[in-house]
Amino acid sequence: MKGLVLAGGLGTRLRPLTSITNKHLLPVYDAPMIYYPLRSLVEAGIEDIMIVCGGNHAGEFLRLLGNGAEFGLKHLNYTYQQDEGGIAEALGLCEHFVDGEKAVVFLGDNIVESSIAEAVRDFEKQDGGARILLKEVEDPRDYGVVKFDDEGNIAKIIEKPVDPPSNFAVVGIYMYSPDVFDIVKRLEPSQRGELEITDVNNAYLERGELRFSKLDGWWADAGASIDAYYETVKVVGESIRRRK
Ligand code: G1P
Repeated sequence: MKGLVLAGGLGTRLRPLTSITNKHLLPVYDAPMIYYPLRSLVEAGIEDIMIVCGGNHAGEFLRLLGNGAEFGLKHLNYTYQQDEGGIAEALGLCEHFVDGEKAVVFLGDNIVESSIAEAVRDFEKQDGGARILLKEVEDPRDYGVVKFDDEGNIAKIIEKPVDPPSNFAVVGIYMYSPDVFDIVKRLEPSQRGELEITDVNNAYLERGELRFSKLDGWWADAGASIDAYYETVKVVGESIRRRK
């Protein structure tokens, strides 16, 4: 199982905080944001990891993380996303690295309280396809949102709906089989000019190959807005202080 941490983009929603550094390097309580997804992957037993950097200041990732010794890793891999092409474009850059294995994609601004190890194990056992993580939230309008059918199966995922069909948001942690790269190659850019990860997930759904796990504990998307960032720092700080 390979791990991919996506840390591209210009972080425009957090400007001017992101004018002179990359969003994923901003402090979240006592560590840079990207430390949290990296720790989650390593804790779930994934040690073969690629970081997709992008935007400005991409070289700083190497300076900060090196070969990942701080995370117990022997080596880290890096690649660079030239344009603002979206999450699915960043994923597409990792085809050579993934090299026919399954992969867990972790957005560099997503932080979770609980271990993802069980979901990763379930995906390992799963016969191909994809697995997403869902979290019930108060206001899901900033996220991909799930519409369920009468049997509680996913009927569709809608990206940032004005009128959400449920309160279940799609967390920025996705598990894919190697055929994901064929799906990515067939995507068309959305209205915001990006290759959308929601289109990838809907493609698996149409094939009947999308499973989901519900995420325990809190989930934070630190990059969604300045309020989300501030709330993330607070929640992470409280959680760390509770454990001390
Ligand atoms: C992205 C995805 C969205 C998902 C969210 C999780 O949103 O497009 O479906 O719910 O990450 O963090 P973006 O960060 O591009 O606004």
